[in-house]
Amino acid sequence: MCGIVGYIGFRDAYPIVIKGLHRLEYRGYDSAGVALLNKDEELKVYKKAGKVSDLENFVKDIDTSSTIGMGHTRWATHGAPSDRNSHPHSSGDRKLTIIHNGIIENYNSIKEALLAKGHVFLSDTDTEVLIHLVEDIQHETGLELREAVRVALNRVIGAYAIVIMSADEPNELIAARKGSPMVIGVGKGEYFIASDATPIVEYTKNVIYLNDNEIAYIRRDDLLIKNIDNTVQTPYIQKLELQLEMLEKGGYDHFMLKEIYEQPRSVRDCLRGRIYPQQGKVQLGGIKEYVEKLKNVDRIIIVACGTSWHAGLVGEYLIEEYARVPVEVEYASEFRYRNPIITEKDLVIAISQSGETADTMAAIELAKEKGATIFGICNVVGASIPRLTHAGVYTHAGPEIGVASTKAFTAQVTALTLMAFYIAQQRGTITQSKLIEYLTELNEIPTLIEKTLKTNDHVKVIADKFKDSTNCLFLGRGSSFPVALEGALKLKEISYIHAEGYPAAEMKHGPIALIDEDMPVVFIATKNSSYEKVISNIQEVRARGGHVIAIVSEGDTTVKNMADFVIEIPQTAEAFVPLLATIPLQLLSYHIAVMRGCNVDQPRNLAKSVTVE
Ligand code: M6R
Repeated sequence: MCGIVGYIGFRDAYPIVIKGLHRLEYRGYDSAGVALLNKDEELKVYKKAGKVSDLENFVKDIDTSSTIGMGHTRWATHGAPSDRNSHPHSSGDRKLTIIHNGIIENYNSIKEALLAKGHVFLSDTDTEVLIHLVEDIQHETGLELREAVRVALNRVIGAYAIVIMSADEPNELIAARKGSPMVIGVGKGEYFIASDATPIVEYTKNVIYLNDNEIAYIRRDDLLIKNIDNTVQTPYIQKLELQLEMLEKGGYDHFMLKEIYEQPRSVRDCLRGRIYPQQGKVQLGGIKEYVEKLKNVDRIIIVACGTSWHAGLVGEYLIEEYARVPVEVEYASEFRYRNPIITEKDLVIAISQSGETADTMAAIELAKEKGATIFGICNVVGASIPRLTHAGVYTHAGPEIGVASTKAFTAQVTALTLMAFYIAQQRGTITQSKLIEYLTELNEIPTLIEKTLKTNDHVKVIADKFKDSTNCLFLGRGSSFPVALEGALKLKEISYIHAEGYPAAEMKHGPIALIDEDMPVVFIATKNSSYEKVISNIQEVRARGGHVIAIVSEGDTTVKNMADFVIEIPQTAEAFVPLLATIPLQLLSYHIAVMRGCNVDQPRNLAKSVTVE
């Protein structure tokens, strides 16, 4: 939610900031702005509603040379997307300016106090209130800027990642974080600041992840990090593993399509070094210290949002089936507010691609307070969630730029599959021979995903038939039910077609009323334990004139004879069907969205990481 970039050094800041904003645009894309210092050391702020490219057009004839600068790409919370609500926001005297990601929850009371003192606000944002507060503190107390920022941050409630520039301190950027991510890139005589490492990686691999409640005072040749209580912190410099080419489209029209096609690789990377099929062994280094816990655990609670929640539902089937531990899957946003019963005996698994989702983080904090052990399943290395949890497993899917999650989902399901078998192995709920059988088959999944991707041309033909639909139902049973939910979410978020996912058997309890000749119904009807039941559900739809698109196992003729279209996927064990059945659903949504002229990588109203609740 909102992307932040800053630069101080010897190079021209503007191109670095703009390029960084393009890389962060997946975080928010309703408006953008930059702040630079001109040669007279005056702060210059340029901002515009719209995409980063609109800002570039706006600024194109302006002299932007400056070796210090910062920029912001916004996902609106307080105040509609507009020029005046875009960041940066400035103090009344225009000597200070700020960019911000997060929400200042007590901004109203601060604003009222400042209004009473004569402050005039030009926007509807909470961010502008914060920079006026810093100005006010300086004015009232005569404190230097560094100290005034620290005092102001002690007065605000909420989440923030901020960068502040001052005309009076032309050689310094001040950055701070609480609850919103911030990375500092360390160069020689230069520093980079960003919401994540993607704008930084082409300049330096040395980074510092700022911790909550830390403030960084950044000069060209000096970096000082203090805690908000004024104690000096020792920065920990880490090496980035990210490669620049991972952030490019690599010849694909959209990041989403590239990421769909990356799935054989991402699933392989998730499995690498973790399974030994011939020995029937799963190894998960990240959680190995918790073997005793896993042997004795009474209950597992999975918390997540959106697509990650769907992966959690697949995990529920797998863990219950193989490890025989009861699992509850919770929306993190609900869990955090309903005083859940959690004990020290519980294991909570938090799933998140970004590792920054505010609701998931709050759910983790709550479960931690109640004494539970917390595992994370996360994609972004070094993000907040892996740092909040006791232990965990990275999915290794690589950067996911398309706002609609694709490869992150299959990598999460893969990680949960590994966890299910790992727990089963520790608890002795699976035989060695079964484990050998399953792991041998799991090892083949990347190749089977490659094969499944060959359905693309056929899926495109189907997409063309249904691209003008206004509604769509997705139905599946067992672990294919979460796949149906995920198929529906993909379609609605990128094509804006209303879609619902349901357990196939639940259709007759309500949704069947919707079925008519205008309603496409997508079934996951592979040959597994509920195959016959799903066939009956398909008949029920056909009898009411609905159009059936069915994902079937290779060679199936029964469903072929009743469906309008079938998409064949390779045969595999029931446990692994979600990893294959998801692929054509991703492709279907992608092609429909492209055919409808939608912006698939940056769907309206959405942002990649939801760092506000
Ligand atoms: O980064 P997270 O996995 O925590 O994000 C959770 C959801 O916001 C995310 O999956 C969202 O639903 C995606 N837009 C789905 O495509």
